[in-house]
Amino acid sequence: MSSHDINNNGRTSVLQTINLRKTFGEVIALEGLNLDVSAGETLCLLGANGAGKTTTINLFLGFLEPNSGEALVNGRNVALAPVETKKELAYIPEQVALYPSLTGLENLRYFAALAGHDYYSDTELYEFIERSGLRKEQADRSVSGYSKGMRQKIGVATALAKQAKAFLLDEPLSGLDPSAANEFAHLANNLRQDGAAILMATHDIFRATELATRIGIMKSGQLVEEVCPDNVDASEVEAIYLNHMRADHADLEKGEAA
Ligand SMILES: Nc1ncnc2c1ncn2[C@@H]1O[C@H](COP(=O)(O)OP(=O)(O)OP(=O)(O)O)[C@@H](O)[C@H]1O
Ligand SMILES: [Mg+2]
Repeated sequence: MSSHDINNNGRTSVLQTINLRKTFGEVIALEGLNLDVSAGETLCLLGANGAGKTTTINLFLGFLEPNSGEALVNGRNVALAPVETKKELAYIPEQVALYPSLTGLENLRYFAALAGHDYYSDTELYEFIERSGLRKEQADRSVSGYSKGMRQKIGVATALAKQAKAFLLDEPLSGLDPSAANEFAHLANNLRQDGAAILMATHDIFRATELATRIGIMKSGQLVEEVCPDNVDASEVEAIYLNHMRADHADLEKGEAA
């Protein structure tokens, strides 16, 4: 085990970035990002549009290559072992891409098989569907008629079918109705309590406070503060967040005045 594997709490990191830097031309998306998530932890990333949350998730998935630094999954560098590390991850994007001509169940079967889990019986697949909050009769319908939240639930069911211990969730709550968001929160909490490591990008401060074991505030490609939700409520997290964003405006105004 390398020194990279042990985080500040003395626990083993499942998801970790070390001085991660990513640019797109002139744009600096990540500027030396350091974060870690251990088994049994949920780190919620809050940050303005363009702060670098999705870029972070895409680097863990190997969709992008960093300019420098490392994204590690269970201590393995994603850039060096993209196929192996991807197998250990379940990913739920904001827009779950599905085959419209197939039913929800058929999509689940297809994407589970693609991830190497081609052995599930229909009963087992329906169990994942049920855990995702989708009803059986909905799963039997063509996805072309699905609402956004229903598509999201197929994404959740697919993530469950992968039986991963590390979850990357990019605004998984956006578009879910309050009951669906509540069900999702319960599910995420259960997964975490069963030992999953969850990294979740969100704009929902209320859910972040409810779900996270730590909240990371991202600004301009860096983690500027970590908040422990045990000690604060959502309105206090909002105040801390807004304070960081206001500092941004103050910097801008200073720049304009100069
Ligand atoms: N493929 C790309 N090409 C060019 N620039 C990109 C690309 N992907 C991201 N960026 C830029 O990188 C920065 C970080 O974007 P990112 O999508 O990671 O932000 P985010 O925190 O997920 O924002 P949001 O809350 O809007 O989802 C932004 O300035 C964005 O314009
Ligand atoms: Mg994003």
